[in-house]
Amino acid sequence: MCGIAGYLGKRKASPILLDAVRRLEYRGYDSVGIATLHEQRLSVRKAVGNVEEVDKKLHFAEMPGNVGIAHTRWATTGKVTDENAHPHLSNNGKIAVVHNGIIENYQELKGFLQKNGYTLKSQTDTEVIPNLIEHHMKRKSLKQAFLETLRQLEGTFSIVALDEGSGTILGARHNSPLVLGLARDGTYIASDVSPFIEATKKAVLLEDDEAVILDNKLEILNFRTGKPVRKKIFLMHWNYEQAKKGDYEHFMMKEIDEQGSTIKKAVQQDAKLMKKAVSMVKKAFGVFLVGCGTSYHACVSASYVFSHIAKKHVNVVLASEFENHREFLTNKTLLIALSQSGETADVLEAVRIAKDKGVKIIAITNVVSSTLTQLADETIMMNCGPEICVLSTKSYTAQLAILTALVYGLAGKLEAGKKLVLQAAAKVPDIIRDSTPKIKALASKIKDSRSIFLIGRDMAYPSALEGALKIKEVSYIHAEGFAGGELKHGTIALIEDNVPVIVLATEHTKKEILANAMEVKARGGYIIGINSRQDDVYDYFIEVPEAGMANPILMIIPIQILAYYLAIERNLDPDKPRNLAKSVTVK
Ligand code: AGP
Repeated sequence: MCGIAGYLGKRKASPILLDAVRRLEYRGYDSVGIATLHEQRLSVRKAVGNVEEVDKKLHFAEMPGNVGIAHTRWATTGKVTDENAHPHLSNNGKIAVVHNGIIENYQELKGFLQKNGYTLKSQTDTEVIPNLIEHHMKRKSLKQAFLETLRQLEGTFSIVALDEGSGTILGARHNSPLVLGLARDGTYIASDVSPFIEATKKAVLLEDDEAVILDNKLEILNFRTGKPVRKKIFLMHWNYEQAKKGDYEHFMMKEIDEQGSTIKKAVQQDAKLMKKAVSMVKKAFGVFLVGCGTSYHACVSASYVFSHIAKKHVNVVLASEFENHREFLTNKTLLIALSQSGETADVLEAVRIAKDKGVKIIAITNVVSSTLTQLADETIMMNCGPEICVLSTKSYTAQLAILTALVYGLAGKLEAGKKLVLQAAAKVPDIIRDSTPKIKALASKIKDSRSIFLIGRDMAYPSALEGALKIKEVSYIHAEGFAGGELKHGTIALIEDNVPVIVLATEHTKKEILANAMEVKARGGYIIGINSRQDDVYDYFIEVPEAGMANPILMIIPIQILAYYLAIERNLDPDKPRNLAKSVTVK
């Protein structure tokens, strides 16, 4: 996934665009580039590295002009090189383009362009876009050439282009987000609202197949039909303070700390909406929960609440595997799609497959302008504010909070479910305060482990999966979570002296999981207990109060903190782990 932005207005564009890519950097940080236009001359500066590194070299804010575009890249097609960094130029150097997504037919378009005498310098798919616009401008206006180009593209794209001749900014989206910010000093266009949220609260959320032509006026149209589109102006409730680090060193710890309040906000949903969602689950014949990564773990965790509280079977499927379940879908099926970003390609693909079969969709997401909200029949917002760290922390516990309440609602006990979650939320600040010193010491003790294992039973099993993901994606230590009962079916072969094994115990599973802990200890494992009560088998103990069906909300918090400090101990950046991006918008 990449971050794209553009600005046209009264102010100097380059400082605005530099700030924009800083705010979008969580979407990818392999390379950065900016193009501005001054006195009818396009200038482009771009290089490999994150925003700070590249700005130190290229001094973006020096670039003149009051119109420009910018890009921060997470590489998909083409290696991480200066040449492959965006913006990309047409052969005649008069059209600059930044792009988020994948043009699936770019090889064919590249061949067409090369046959017509164009040379493409980069390995990217994006470079075909400015050159197609140049090609079509030989016989059409800029606007028509842009629309013609868009109709030739297959795949996913949000695009911002800048034309040297007219100083016009052109934008368009297909299965990738793009929003406009309408400020007094000018017009912004970006992948999300963060670049302009302080300049204006007025946003226009573009929908699929919509294009924007921005010069001294603003035109929005459907690029398939060419017909103008009327759009409403959203007033964004976000404030950028929420998305700033404040006095935290990293977003990750800030967002872990915020969970005391974000879990509360998540569960305080509009009563009518929750009632509607409950009735959709009740009416459905076949319920699927889909997600990826952490969101998938929330689905697995919720399936235990569906079973224990509502006595209802639900199908939990990785979004990337959902197409193999197509045969089971009917117009009576319900799909609950979890995605913090609302842009994860596999989740959107699963939703499209389901919609083709007449399946009703409930989305649980955190981004109001996301593609998922536009595809869903009903959307439950996680309301946990911008999650900037690549790792999902507060969004995970927000998803758990919403799903727990939903299931209690299904059992006719919505208020009881909300109360349970709110009681758990109230314990979060103490858990963080009381456990952090011990967790810091633990991180320094196990930071050089080759592997870390996590075991749990019942609802603590998905917590073990999620804990392993947190640890491995931020510390690069191999970590594996699995069901305690699975230990003897293979993994115990990996246990040797001092291998750390985190044991997630609850009142309900204590007896069996401690027996598993004894088996591991007998083979030299180092036992770290996360539990409401100490036990002799533990070599290290972190207390987490018992919370019944809300246990998964609380027991993940010490592991989030452990993952954070493991990264710090290993001198890694917890907010931007290597090779990862905040949302995987490619399949
Ligand atoms: C979790 O820490 C990771 N960042 C990743 O697994 C993430 O949960 C997954 O990519 C799904 O993202 P989404 O919730 O935005 O769809």
